[in-house]
Amino acid sequence: MRFSSILTLACAITAFVLSLLCIFAGSSKSFLQRADLLTLNISRIGHTSIFNTSDGDGGFFSNLVNDLEGDLNSLVNNVTSDIASALNLPDFFNVHVMDFCEGSYLPKPTVHNARENITACSNRSTVFHFDPSKVIQKKLPDGITLEDIHWPTTIEDTEHDLKIVSTTMVVFYIIGIAFAGIAILTALWGIWAGSRLSAVVNFFIDVLAFVTLGIASAIATAIIVKAVEVINKYGDDIGIAAYRGSRFLGMTWGATAVMLLASIVSVAQCCTGGRRRERYNGKGAS
Ligand SMILES: *[C@@H]1O[C@H](CO)[C@@H](O)[C@H](O)[C@H]1NC(C)=O
Ligand SMILES: *[C@@H]1O[C@H](CO)[C@@H](O)[C@H](O)[C@H]1NC(C)=O
Ligand SMILES: *[C@@H]1O[C@H](CO)[C@@H](O)[C@H](O)[C@H]1NC(C)=O
Ligand SMILES: *[C@@H]1O[C@H](CO)[C@@H](O)[C@H](O)[C@H]1NC(C)=O
Repeated sequence: MRFSSILTLACAITAFVLSLLCIFAGSSKSFLQRADLLTLNISRIGHTSIFNTSDGDGGFFSNLVNDLEGDLNSLVNNVTSDIASALNLPDFFNVHVMDFCEGSYLPKPTVHNARENITACSNRSTVFHFDPSKVIQKKLPDGITLEDIHWPTTIEDTEHDLKIVSTTMVVFYIIGIAFAGIAILTALWGIWAGSRLSAVVNFFIDVLAFVTLGIASAIATAIIVKAVEVINKYGDDIGIAAYRGSRFLGMTWGATAVMLLASIVSVAQCCTGGRRRERYNGKGAS
């Protein structure tokens, strides 16, 4: 019976649960929506000077006027109007590891601390990657294109770049979760047996879980940083913004950190277990 194994067990369980929550967050409308990779806020799309008709940009409006009722001039010029809903678009997207959800801000997008009302989530998939350009293109009323709303092509290019990286991330999460699961079993074995062999096996499994979860977290962080940077840099002109999912980052790096702690404890177990064995052998020989 080895009590330090209880600590590695607690670490493995924590890492297992946290990383599962990371990849399943947002799998339903009400499940951990706040633990998203990033939030894309398009609620104020169109409220920028490049949509200003006085500047002679006829393309946007000549297309819109045919499809939408109301005075679009005043839609753009009225700072409180909701151009996103006039264009059939949701206010925001919550992007998760395996799907995305969309909804509207309540009571209004511009209100401080507006509440998220999730209206729909996409189907869950391990090869999911978020391509807002395609999603938004599909939702726009007939006859209106991404070009009409000045959608930045750099965002489309970045989506393409992040496609394979996203799948790689999911693969590493799945492997990491599997190792964290095995680490729970080897920690239980360590508590029960307390042998040197169990300590060594435990150490290897803990290190593998740490490395794979670390790689998954690093890829996720890179995706988040890159996507948010590109959206904010090139989307600012058309009134869209993106925010990093700090809760997700906390969860994924938390899972990685506890596996690092478990690895340190289990390497200590290997060493002290070895010394104890030698001392015992020495006694036996004298
Ligand atoms: C549109 O442009 C005109 C003249 O350049 C300016 O007076 C007006 O405030 C602008 N409107 C918006 C919504 O930017
Ligand atoms: C969404 O973006 C707009 C414009 O950038 C901003 O005014 C608004 O506060 C944002 N809404 C939320 C809920 O973050
Ligand atoms: C939230 O969205 C749903 C549609 O999914 C809608 O039925 C409901 O009325 C909305 N809630 C509020 C408070 O508007
Ligand atoms: C989501 O899955 C359902 C059932 O599996 C399917 O009918 C539907 O077409 C899918 N939706 C999309 C957008 O792929």
